[in-house]
Amino acid sequence: MKLPDRVTICEVGTRDGFQIEPDFIPTELKVEVVTLLAEAGMPRIEVTSFVHPKVVPQLRDAEEVMAKIRRRPGTRYAALVPNDKGAVRAVDAGVDAIHTVVSASESHNLANVNMTIAESIQKLTAVMRVAERARVPVGCGISTSFGCPFEGDVPLPHLESVVRRLVDIGARAVGLADTTGMANPRQVGRVLEHLMPRFPGVEWTLHTHDTRAMAIPNILAAMEHGVTNFDASIGGLGGCPFAPGASGNVCTEDLVHCLHAMGVQTGIDLDRLVGVSRRVQEIVGRALPGQIVKAGPSTRKYPVPDTVAGRIPRAG
Ligand code: COA
Ligand code: ZN
Repeated sequence: MKLPDRVTICEVGTRDGFQIEPDFIPTELKVEVVTLLAEAGMPRIEVTSFVHPKVVPQLRDAEEVMAKIRRRPGTRYAALVPNDKGAVRAVDAGVDAIHTVVSASESHNLANVNMTIAESIQKLTAVMRVAERARVPVGCGISTSFGCPFEGDVPLPHLESVVRRLVDIGARAVGLADTTGMANPRQVGRVLEHLMPRFPGVEWTLHTHDTRAMAIPNILAAMEHGVTNFDASIGGLGGCPFAPGASGNVCTEDLVHCLHAMGVQTGIDLDRLVGVSRRVQEIVGRALPGQIVKAGPSTRKYPVPDTVAGRIPRAG
């Protein structure tokens, strides 16, 4: 396999995950999770979103969370915004980066942000201006890039035209999001082969959901095409409230374990990350989908049973 030496993971659990939790997670606990993630060495965290508080009440405390987190040097604290109003709030709250959202399919964009794609692009043009004035970098995410829960297939020329419009308004970092886990590895390869040469200089991110157990295979396919930025959620939290059938992102600790096992560096301390995942399970009050929390790393060894111990032939 052609794998990079190092990848950058952006933790999105406190945004993509907490936004869909049935109960409001108290602000102090959100701050605690962000702090623990940073202490585990997470290079990027999408802390929250600056969206309409009535639309996503779970994240109505975005300003307060941003004000209360203790910043670790080396971690970039970002937030998701759908429009310039969100961007102004995010900049005032002191984010290090803005992540924007628009969908590749009209129906999901309308369901998610109550705008057509063209209307969203207009709002995102204003977001770019706000960010430029504040000298804050922007990453532009595209939901339903690999399929839409309402429309099914998203034609590649359609996705390309959304990327084109984002690049035209100044996007330098573009995230392809598989909002409801519809992508497969061959498709990820095909989409990247099509887009990457057409948009030289763009830094690509893959945002996966493990709805159909294809998230890590999709990430492997993207790495083979040279992508080195991936979103993931602690414990495998996550899901879009406005996409029926959506479920958790790729689980951060499972992904980090897989990458480290293959010799791909992340700068993240896996043991500490597993500890954060346990704490998040306590906070949400249920077991999360992650496997490594249950199984331990692949280097884990169990004691040899007594019935076997005396019968093992010596090596050599
Ligand atoms: N934060 C807070 N308030 C906002 C806002 C933002 N980012 N954007 C708009 N508003 C307010 C406006 O000021 C206006 O307030 P008013 O009624 O007091 O004047 C009101 O919301 C309506 O504004 P409008 O532009 O018509 O928004 P809308 O009602 O069409 O909603 C969004 C559009 C984008 C704000 C809303 O759909 C949204 O927040 N979506 C986020 C979805 C999401 O987070 N999905 C999951 C992540 S992908
Ligand atoms: Zn998502």
